[in-house]
Amino acid sequence: MRLLQQIKKKNPFTGDYLPSRVSLFARNRVSLPFPHLWNYREPIRILDAYFQFVDGLDNSQKHNRFLDVPFFPAVLVTRDPAVIKPILLDTGDKPGQFDRDTLPTDGIARATGEDSLLYSNGEQWRMQKKLAAPSFGKTKLFQPEKFAEFEQTFRKTAADRLDILREQQSAAGASITPIELEPEISAIMLEMLVNNFFGGQVSYTDIQQRYVPSLTLMIDHMVTDTIAHRIQAPINFVTGKNKRLNAAKQDFEALTDIALAGRANGLGMWSQFKSDATDEQLRSNIRVFLAGALEATTSFAGWAFMHLARSPQVQEAIYNEVEPMDIYDPDNLGQASCLLQALQETLRLTPSLYFLPRRATIDTTVNVSPDKKLIIPKGTHVLLDVWHANRCEDFWGEAVSGYPANEFAPQRWQVLKDKGYSAKDLMHFGFGFGPRTCPGTSLGMLEVGLVVGAFVKMFRFTADTGSVSPKAGVSTKPSDGVSINIEVREPYQ
Ligand code: HEM
Repeated sequence: MRLLQQIKKKNPFTGDYLPSRVSLFARNRVSLPFPHLWNYREPIRILDAYFQFVDGLDNSQKHNRFLDVPFFPAVLVTRDPAVIKPILLDTGDKPGQFDRDTLPTDGIARATGEDSLLYSNGEQWRMQKKLAAPSFGKTKLFQPEKFAEFEQTFRKTAADRLDILREQQSAAGASITPIELEPEISAIMLEMLVNNFFGGQVSYTDIQQRYVPSLTLMIDHMVTDTIAHRIQAPINFVTGKNKRLNAAKQDFEALTDIALAGRANGLGMWSQFKSDATDEQLRSNIRVFLAGALEATTSFAGWAFMHLARSPQVQEAIYNEVEPMDIYDPDNLGQASCLLQALQETLRLTPSLYFLPRRATIDTTVNVSPDKKLIIPKGTHVLLDVWHANRCEDFWGEAVSGYPANEFAPQRWQVLKDKGYSAKDLMHFGFGFGPRTCPGTSLGMLEVGLVVGAFVKMFRFTADTGSVSPKAGVSTKPSDGVSINIEVREPYQ
């Protein structure tokens, strides 16, 4: 029945808010609309293909697109917040709710284990969530003594590393030095996580020279392994990459051991972790936290630096805010409105996770508005395309927020506030939404806020080029490795 409908090109979706069809092949399109060996390194271009040639379509068809190829389940790609939001809300372990689609993450699961919060669905996910997520959440992390302890160690880590950068720059004798910042950001982020959060004691040299390169190789492998699992293995054998991958896997395991070791002595966040689960039961989640948090926080901070390097006025406004600030407690942070708006705007324009994958477990009705419904057939792969939603003029453009959607303009958040929009009215989904929202939101905001704030306080920075294109894998990052010119601010206290 279904095959016949596919051959006849019948729209598999029903209701009164229908998506429009994307053809498998089309002339002058930026990419084929599915990943294959030649395009999987450019996933954003694959998503671009869904929204090419949509001018003139009505709203539901313009922002909701589907691919339906005989013998395969349908794929729905939506950049429509009115569809994204209810689907995120209706994702969970109750019968009939959307699952997280495991297909785009099976490379991650092979590297971290399937029994993790990120990969699992249903009962297994609910159990993992109860077990491991609370330690990262606001309620635990923002208890005053705990917050002060983490804030202090995080701040010291960031300051120590930035001091070294500053000394290197002074030693070079030039007042302005070009630097590729991404490796420095990754190292600071991993050090905060392993040493400050999990109570490990890894030297900075090991973090920088051993663990960051190994985790970066593993993360890159997770992407390749999702698309080209069978084909890649023999190629890796011939090119010698298998050897490097095995060494990286061992480093990943060693780092997981280090993160877990603090549990016995109640170090770092383990002091507040109460659970009967064995270390072995927590292992997959610790791997996900290490790799996922490193990837997402590096992406988030990297984009913030890339934008701020091109926005001197915003940079100065943040400097004026953080210059008198020594402690980043919730009160101080709450008052750092320029910094917070710049971080919100970074996540909106350049979200770290650029799409959120879901799968319909049964024929599911999505209530788009009180009088509009979209019925998604069982088995459909749903890609919630946050990247394109957030840069769509219809949702975030001048008419709504006072600034073009594809421009970095933190001031738009003030315009939106003045217009009476609340955080729930306009969402950028940078940390997801609903039951599967990011458990690391508070930790991630704290880490990125501290590093960006401390950096702006110490350096003035610029860039030689206009805006930079994204490279996308597990997350998005600036494709130039965050290349900026830094100058020490004088006087520095
Ligand atoms: C600061 C940068 C971060 C960003 C932008 C970010 C973004 C996200 C997003 C968008 C999701 C939702 C995925 C979906 O709905 O499919 C998510 C989920 C998740 N994040 Fe984060 N994240 C960040 C930091 C962290 C940190 C620091 C941790 C842990 C230490 C973490 C662990 C997780 C886990 C385990 C999930 C899966 C939750 C579930 O499915 O129940 N993230 N993250």
